[in-house]
Amino acid sequence: MTPFAADPPPGRDGQGGTDRSGAGRGGHGSGSDRQSGYPGGQGRSGASRSPRLDRGRGRDRGRQPAGGAGDRRGPGPRPRTDRPPDVDPARAAALDLLSAVRERGAYANLALPAILADRHLFGRDAALATELGYGSCRTLGQLDAIVAVCGDKPLPELDGAVLDALRLGAYQLLHTRIPPHAAVSATVDLVRAGSRPRASGYVNAVLRRVAERDLDGWVERLAPAASSDPLARLALHRAHPRWIADAFADALGERGPDLADLTALLDADQAPPAVHLVARPGRIERDALVAESGGEPGRFSSFAVYLAGGDPARLDSVRRGAAAVQDEGSQLVAVALAAARVDGPDTRWLDLAAGPGGKAALLGALAAQRGATLDAVETAEHRADLVRKTTAGLPVTVHTADGRDPGLPPGSFDRVLLDAPCTGLGALRRRPEARWRRTAADVAPLVKLQRELLESAARLVRPGGVIAYVTCSPHLAETAGVIARRPASLELLDAREYFQGVPDLGAGPTVQLWPHRHGTDAMFCALLRRTG
Ligand SMILES: C[S@@+](CC[C@H](N)C(=O)[O-])C[C@H]1O[C@@H](n2cnc3c(N)ncnc32)[C@H](O)[C@@H]1O
Repeated sequence: MTPFAADPPPGRDGQGGTDRSGAGRGGHGSGSDRQSGYPGGQGRSGASRSPRLDRGRGRDRGRQPAGGAGDRRGPGPRPRTDRPPDVDPARAAALDLLSAVRERGAYANLALPAILADRHLFGRDAALATELGYGSCRTLGQLDAIVAVCGDKPLPELDGAVLDALRLGAYQLLHTRIPPHAAVSATVDLVRAGSRPRASGYVNAVLRRVAERDLDGWVERLAPAASSDPLARLALHRAHPRWIADAFADALGERGPDLADLTALLDADQAPPAVHLVARPGRIERDALVAESGGEPGRFSSFAVYLAGGDPARLDSVRRGAAAVQDEGSQLVAVALAAARVDGPDTRWLDLAAGPGGKAALLGALAAQRGATLDAVETAEHRADLVRKTTAGLPVTVHTADGRDPGLPPGSFDRVLLDAPCTGLGALRRRPEARWRRTAADVAPLVKLQRELLESAARLVRPGGVIAYVTCSPHLAETAGVIARRPASLELLDAREYFQGVPDLGAGPTVQLWPHRHGTDAMFCALLRRTG
């Protein structure tokens, strides 16, 4: 097999913004409370390079060249051998993950635990598989842009398993300190042992070409000059599709030449989020959860605990539903709705898009303390079941219904949460592949649904009652755009008043939280009162 053309084909756009996974399925922002504390690290080139992989695993160390981890002289020729390939189980698991994401449209954070269990991987092997699998998913478009100029075949013409192997190998070369020869040979071994062994020569040759430069070198080669299009260059370097980087820049109001704020945000998206717990009011005191978990009190929410490490599922309070994993930003928006001033009766609360139920459980616990009840509406049956499970024992009634017309009495609710289905761009750090699966075309239909749900919320809330319109996306069309075209009966309150102690909330009256400023998901919250 011809390894690759002597000269690479002319460069592609290099913007890393194309979804070549073939998987068009996307979430709807529903996982904002699901956290997946996985190992990883910060990069030598400012992106996601993992120092802990620098040490190498036993087998890699044995193959290390004189230059050691930092040696970028390339892997050198690979000796021919007929022995069966020595397949590394961690890399094999990472490859399984890439193929599940590409072939089945799997969510990486849901698929990986089953893959690790199937392969009986624990400890360092599981950590390496997680870093390589999630890392490759997170940087997919960037890896594709580079791989595309290192081989002589267009990516869509490559066998899927070969493309996955190239992505996995390129990730190791560009984002870890695994020695290049180990990255290439371990990946080639996987191909030799897989369904397309004859492609191993091609993979070897393409990866050797990838190894000729580090990430900065490839960005230099493929991206437009910083002087002509700094945003495109940053998007490629930080492995975000261009349209998402654009949307973030718009939301941050940053169009200056240095893009410092946007850079910090994109970097925050590359790092695994800290695990936040919520101590559900009336079920467990926050101090007791701090003591049980060994964590520390959250900075902003009086119910939040930051977990230092370990599996939250091992905690007794989590097992019995007194505590749960929940991003602090999600806690803050629910608490803001519960705290907003309402005159008159305050006994009927509503969550109009409730699945899987993280905020419904927090609101339900607060409602219980205040003698109120919560109705929770969710259109997807299995997600409505999750809400039932999460809110068991609380004064919560779950309805499987479309929030646009749930069959509940109009004008009867004192407080309404609309945590709207959205693009989920504010929670990209939790969902490794999501940024390459979403497209700009997803935004308009979601905005239509968000507006229809807000109109329904406006009908269901009573005059004088309050709505919290929330998204886990900072995209302006889903946030300010929806609020600007809200029903005339809704007046905008200054939401900042109900985020006491939270810095950097800007000019208001709406609130936008940010991973790089607040350590939370990029939650948006508008508080609206029905006037008539
Ligand atoms: C952002 S998630 C809500 C997350 C939830 N508040 C939590 O904290 O766990 C949006 C939810 O709205 C649901 N949804 C989508 N369209 C809906 C509709 N027309 N009516 C009601 N729920 C809908 C989705 O299935 C999803 O579970």
